[in-house]
Order: sequence, then structure tokens, then C-alpha cells
Amino acid sequence: MTHKILIDTDPGIDDAMAIFYAALHPEIEIVGMTSVFGNVTTEIAARNAIVLAERAGQEIPVAKGAGKPLVQTPNPVSDYVHGAEGFGDMPAQDTTARPVDEPAHEFICRLINENPSEITLCPIGPLTNIALALRHDPTIAEKVKSVVIMGGGLERGNVSAYAEANIWNDPHAADEVFSAHWPLTMVGLDVTTQVVCDKPDFAAIAKASPKLGGFLNEAVQYYVNFYETHHGISGSQMHDPTAVIAITDPQYFTIENHALEVIVDGDRIGQTIRSTDPSRPKHKVPMGVDIDGVKRRFLTMFETGS
Ligand code: BDR
Ligand code: CA
Repeated sequence: MTHKILIDTDPGIDDAMAIFYAALHPEIEIVGMTSVFGNVTTEIAARNAIVLAERAGQEIPVAKGAGKPLVQTPNPVSDYVHGAEGFGDMPAQDTTARPVDEPAHEFICRLINENPSEITLCPIGPLTNIALALRHDPTIAEKVKSVVIMGGGLERGNVSAYAEANIWNDPHAADEVFSAHWPLTMVGLDVTTQVVCDKPDFAAIAKASPKLGGFLNEAVQYYVNFYETHHGISGSQMHDPTAVIAITDPQYFTIENHALEVIVDGDRIGQTIRSTDPSRPKHKVPMGVDIDGVKRRFLTMFETGS
């Protein structure tokens, strides 16, 4: 089965892992990408998405998306996690290609309308474009195949004790997305923090796949240093690629079903919680993961790569 996926992204080191994994996967077709602020500005995110597609040898249209959250004052970009240009210490990546001439939320709606029941929307950044798309055309909720998000977490946060970065960067947008009646899976920190690849893992994919694995190995050094310094972890938590792997390999996850909402102010801003509001739909929330299965899936994909 081919999965047609549309990736909304803020590349970003683990975004690059997710995009290369998807590009290499024989059963995934990346039909488009949209940029959002978060790890970097939306301009840099769009350029980086184009650069990653070019490096993977794929022609993927990229639409530029939101540069700021719906309501709140923007948080600073996460350059201390992903580097000034998004890929650790690597300098700005050059390309002459430009984003398509269509705003991200309209691009998302058009692709879903043109491919009813076929598109899996995979947001791996703040959910601003997704909320704007739902506002622009609420009927996409019935036409999308599924929505698989990297974000949130019921048991833990990363930017605070409560909040995960993608949700924290636009909690109002996330709350709109979780209140929509559509088939959504929230792949959050409950599982993504458990999947860790270390420096030898990345050295191995660099050897097997110099072009894509080599790029990740170079970019990830900065990310691993961040995890060592701030979290005492020897390696990289595999947030965004774990969300893509949940699309193709749901058997690696133990799923619970919960109505969700987001705290949009106060000390717990950005926290995703179980909702008791009966009007909210239940969404799938992976709470357990076969760590070795997901890691192996990711790492072996690069054995076939260039
Ligand atoms: C998420 O935040 C970003 O820094 C990563 O790219 C990932 O999407 C993890 O909390
Ligand atoms: Ca991301």
C-alpha cells in the first residue's frame, strides 16, 4: 500500500530524519511539504524543506506557511536545539528553487480535496497551518485519510514539565486541531522520548548512505550535544521520524483512545490533557512503543539509501 503523505514541518534536525526516512520508504509518496515556524523561521523552514527534497532526489512542492502563532506572542526559535540554520553547525544550505505560489493552508486544503480519502497529513511542527487549513475549509476533516501528529504528551513535557515544544509554540492552534472530528493520532513524548539513536547509530547510517545518512550524521552532532547537556541523554530522541513510522508501522505502538485538549494559559500552557468535554472526539494516543522495532525500522531504511 502506498501512503500519500503531506508533511508540515519546521526543519529542524529530527524533521530532516523524518523527511529522509519518508523519502527512502518504498511505500511512501511525499505529495507535498509545508513550512511552519518553530525550530527556525518559516522562511528558513521552507528553504530547508526544499533542500532536503533536492538532496533526496525528489521533486516535492513546498508551500510556505505561517510565520507566527494564531494568538500568542511568538516564542524564540529553538536555535539552541537545532542550530541557527536548522541543521546544527552546518551553514545555510543553498538552493535556487523557491516555494510554490500558494499559502500552506490553501495548499493543504487543495491537495486533500483533489485526493479524497487518500492523504495522510503529518504535521511535525507547531499546528498553526493545520488550524488555518481547518478554518479555511472545514470539510477537509471528512476528506483526509488520517492526521498523524508529532506533538504533545500525556505524561511529560520537554520545554517545561508540562508542555511539548510543538504544542507550546501554538497552543491555541493545537487545541483547534484536537477539537476537530477527524481521524487523528497524537504521537507524543510518551513514546518519542523512548526512542533514542546514539552517535554510533548515526555513524553507521552515514557509512551505509553517505548522501542522506551522512547529512544526518553531520547535523545530529549538535542535537546530541544538546541532549547530553540539557537532558543527560547520550543520543538523539527520535521525535519526528517516530511519527512517520507510526503511519507505516502502527504495530509497534500500543494505542489508547482519549479526547484531548490543550491548556492555553498559565503555568501549564501548552500541556495536552485528557478532556472531559463530551463534544470532543476521541483520538488515538500511542502510550507504549517497541523501541527496538522503531529504531531498526529507521536505521535499516538507510541501508537501501544513497
Ligand atoms: C518537536 O519539537 C521540535 O523541536 C522537534 O523538531 C519535534 O518536532 C519535539 O518536541
Ligand atoms: Ca519538528
